[in-house]
Amino acid sequence: MRVVIKTDAASVTQFAANKIAELVRAKPDCVLGLATGSSPLGTYQELIRMHRDEGLDFSRVTTFNLDEYVGLSGTDPQSYRFFMQTNLFDHINIDPAKTNIPDGRALDFEAFCESYERRIEEAGGIDLQLLGIGADGHIAFNEPGSSLGSRTRLKTLMDQTVRDNARFFGNIDNVPRLAITMGIGTILESKKCLMIALGDGKSEAVWQTIEGPVTAQVTASALQLHRDVTVVMDEGAACLLRRREYYDNVEQWQNLLETGQFDRLGIQKNDN
Ligand code: F6R
Repeated sequence: MRVVIKTDAASVTQFAANKIAELVRAKPDCVLGLATGSSPLGTYQELIRMHRDEGLDFSRVTTFNLDEYVGLSGTDPQSYRFFMQTNLFDHINIDPAKTNIPDGRALDFEAFCESYERRIEEAGGIDLQLLGIGADGHIAFNEPGSSLGSRTRLKTLMDQTVRDNARFFGNIDNVPRLAITMGIGTILESKKCLMIALGDGKSEAVWQTIEGPVTAQVTASALQLHRDVTVVMDEGAACLLRRREYYDNVEQWQNLLETGQFDRLGIQKNDN
C-alpha cells in the first residue's frame, strides 16, 4: 500500500486528479471506477478544469460507480446518478452510454447485480477504482461485517449510516434503508485502487485500514490484500498513523526515482 500524506485537501485533490488524468491520457479507452460523497468532489472539479483548459478527453472512457440507493430514480437530487451528472458527467465530454451506475429502481435485484458484474467484466475490468472511506472504515456501501469476498449486491444500511445521511434527505424517514453496492471482492479485482481520505474524522478508519488487521469489521482493510493501492490523505486523516516517518521516507525516494535523480539515490549510472 502506498501511503501519501499531503499538507492539505487541495494537494490531495491535485494528486488524485493527476493520477486519473495520467491514466486517461495513457489509455484513452480506460475503465474508471468512481465514487460519490464529499471526498472525490474536489478531484472531479479538477478533472472538469483539466477537460476545459487542457482538453483532457473522456470521449472513450467508460465508468462504473460503486453504489446507488434503492428506490431513487436518476433524476432524484439525492440519487448518486444525479450526483455524478451534476458534479462530473455534465461538464466533461463523456459518452452517457458509457457511464454505469447501479439502477436504484431495478426490481429484480439479483439479476441486476449479476448483470452489473458482467458489464464490468465485458468492459475489460476496472483500470482504476477511486474510493472514499466512511468514518467506520466502509468502502462503497460495504458496512462493517460485509463479507470480504462479496460481489455487487443489495445491502441493508446500518442505522449509523442512515443517521449520517439524514442531513441530505431533510428527514430520517426519507433516507433509503437499502442500497446496491459493488462488493469488496468486486473492488479487489480492480487493477488499481486510489483512496482519498480527508479530515480527522477519518483518522481512526485510516489508521485501522492501513495499520490494523484485515477484518470485515473495517471493510477498507481488505485493501491490504490488493497489490496496487494508493491512499492519499491530508494531515488530519493521517494524524493517528504510527509509521508516518517511514511513509514520508518512501515518498521521498519515490519522488527521486520518478524524477530520475538516481545520483541522489546512490545509484551509479551504468554506461554500457
Ligand atoms: C460513495 C461511497 C462511500 C463514501 C464514504 C465516504 O460512493 O462509496 O463509501 O466514499 O461514505 O463518504 P464521504 O466522502 O462523503 O465522507
